[in-house]
Amino acid sequence: MIGTIISLLILVALVALFAWLARRAWGAKRAWLKWPGVVLAGLFTLLLGLLTAVGAIGVYKLYAPRNVPVPAVTVQGTPPTSGQIARGQHLAEVLCVACHSTNDELPLSGGDNLAAETGLPLGDIYGPNLTPAGELKDWSDGEVFRVIRTGVNKDGRATFMGGIGSRLLSDEDTQAIVAYLRASPSVQNETPEFKPTLLLALFTGAGLLNFEPPAATGPIAAPSKAVTFEYGKYVVDFVSCDGCHGPKLSGDAPPSAPPAPNLTVILPQWSKEDFFTAMRTGVTPSGEEMDPVAMPWKAMGKLDDVELEALYLYLHGLTPVTGK
Ligand code: HEC
Ligand code: HEC
Repeated sequence: MIGTIISLLILVALVALFAWLARRAWGAKRAWLKWPGVVLAGLFTLLLGLLTAVGAIGVYKLYAPRNVPVPAVTVQGTPPTSGQIARGQHLAEVLCVACHSTNDELPLSGGDNLAAETGLPLGDIYGPNLTPAGELKDWSDGEVFRVIRTGVNKDGRATFMGGIGSRLLSDEDTQAIVAYLRASPSVQNETPEFKPTLLLALFTGAGLLNFEPPAATGPIAAPSKAVTFEYGKYVVDFVSCDGCHGPKLSGDAPPSAPPAPNLTVILPQWSKEDFFTAMRTGVTPSGEEMDPVAMPWKAMGKLDDVELEALYLYLHGLTPVTGK
């Protein structure tokens, strides 16, 4: 936070400098000095003033304490069943390894800098170590539940977790993940703390990154786990296929997401076997291998048979959306 605030102060100093230069130019006696000077220095003052305001809004959004209540959840001490821990481990393998591990595998001992993957100087954004050797040992179950559901961490700050599909997991599935995290093996590993740059504050202030956590934490119930349309929709939601394929899964995602194809015209053409092969091996019926970074099929391929079949049922039944 200090670094970003210093950058903002430098911006404020520059605004003052250009405002002063504009005033000086205004007082100039020679017209050829006066008008270009006033216009140029004035423009810079406005531009830098705007940047300062957007950056300040961004810093506010990144650090403002969020008033989202901690749900009264206790997974510890209730002893979780082995079925519950296994369910949590399964979900963690599908949903959490991408950011909380460096090799896309359990345990969730901490990930790489997500900012580095963007190629932009956004700062330090690491998915922390979630094993019992990390910070979570000092968090209540309710606090862990809240960050998975809303992205709001123990300090009340909205983290990048707020944008992921785990906010749509049912209470039961979220608790299963908490149970797994508590039961997972301890791995000593420390990741750098969250440290945004001015650029990240500017992006956030301009509304390019969505940070708004939901105001409440639930409750959320899931349809019972079976090969049904409803359960398929639930899987689409928590894996957030819509994050890249668009809200209608028709390739209508916002421009900030990488371009992803229109599933509503592709999937109705595929057989169940085509879909399983694509999700488990990355190879589509046309024989092409999907880019595992752009389309994270390796993690999604770990969905179990019931989840994948429900997903297929849902996607296969979509009404094709043509045109955007
Ligand atoms: C898109 C990347 C991403 C994914 C996927 C992701 N996380 Fe996170 N997670 C983060 C980042 C980034 C932070 C917070 C870093 C910060 O701002 O302090 C975080 C923070 C957390 C924290 C708080 C830890 C702490 O010490 O502050 C918990 C708990 C957590 N994540 C659990 C999960 C679980 C469980 C899943 C899977 C359901 C998951 N995360 C999936 C990126 C991710
Ligand atoms: C992180 C972004 C992202 C997410 C999340 C995502 N996809 Fe994709 N998907 C892509 C991209 C990008 C491609 C194109 C990949 C390529 O051509 O190499 C793709 C391709 C596909 C294809 C192949 C379509 C074709 O052209 O033959 C299928 C099927 C698919 N995705 C299904 C899904 C399903 C189902 C989900 C959710 C369970 C999902 N995707 C989630 C980005 C994503």
